[in-house]
Amino acid sequence: MADVLVTESILGPAMEALRETFDVAFEADLWTDRTRLMNRVAEARAIIVRNQTPVTADLIRAARNLQIIARAGAGLDNIDVRAASDAGIVVSYTPVQNAISVAELTVALMLALARKIPAADQHVKGGGWARQRYTGVELYGKTLGVAGFGRIGFLTAMRARAFGMNVMAYDPYLASDALTVIEARAQLVSLDELLGASDFLACHLPSSDQTRAMFIYDRFCRMKSSAFFINVARGDVVDEAGLVRALQEGKIAGAALDVRASEPPEKSPLCEMENVILTPHIGAFTDEAQDRVVASVCRDVEAVLNGGQAIHFANFPSPRAQRGD
Ligand code: MLT
Repeated sequence: MADVLVTESILGPAMEALRETFDVAFEADLWTDRTRLMNRVAEARAIIVRNQTPVTADLIRAARNLQIIARAGAGLDNIDVRAASDAGIVVSYTPVQNAISVAELTVALMLALARKIPAADQHVKGGGWARQRYTGVELYGKTLGVAGFGRIGFLTAMRARAFGMNVMAYDPYLASDALTVIEARAQLVSLDELLGASDFLACHLPSSDQTRAMFIYDRFCRMKSSAFFINVARGDVVDEAGLVRALQEGKIAGAALDVRASEPPEKSPLCEMENVILTPHIGAFTDEAQDRVVASVCRDVEAVLNGGQAIHFANFPSPRAQRGD
């Protein structure tokens, strides 16, 4: 039985190095077969996942030898951290390693929406040359509203500043004297104010009971009809039917979604809209971010399996005796 179970495609030099030291079972599609996953996890001492493997309480119960769950990414919405903690298992993740890439994708999507790049590209490839049809808008002087001013929100804001944008932020967990707010010269506002003032609204909120379906039709109606909505965080923060309706009725000018409520998504009316850009959850997918992410989880797994401590942990750095032990 393997020491380390890898249930999704997680590759790179650090993974190769881990395979030289430990018995690593690399099964990139294991997340698609729950029964096989439950069997395979029984003996593993470590499991490495992305966001498609639900690491639930029943999986954790079945993983009798597990010492560490390593999440190659920042979001912990697919990990039952409380169940892991109750079982004494370390949860390691990568809170900062892909943040630059996600912020850069946000800016790329803002520019692509502002300048209608995907539609113009399709137009020219189809033999067209109607330049006026692809007249866009500048980022300069516009207001970027950031919903969720964590690391990625902050990095996006700093990049927006370089384009001469004003920055507003909604984050109920931050005060106006937070260093990131001061550094980005962001104005902290309520969600309602953010909706009304943003020319571009970038969502960087995690999925939680507080944020699920936060962006509903009524909220899109409170935005400017010239505004663009960008979601690179978690799909379930948006009510997709509400977004479709808002776009169909011209309540906002366009949207870019890198994340969806279910991934891969069902066919949607969004696919037919010229003012909508859809990408397959690629925010963290750059060579640099993946090298950092994979190096970080492999380092933490190696440390914990050798009796040491994880660096990037969500609960505690080394395994604990289980309750009742
Ligand atoms: C993250 O949570 O870090 C990103 O969404 C990437 C991922 O889930 O793999």
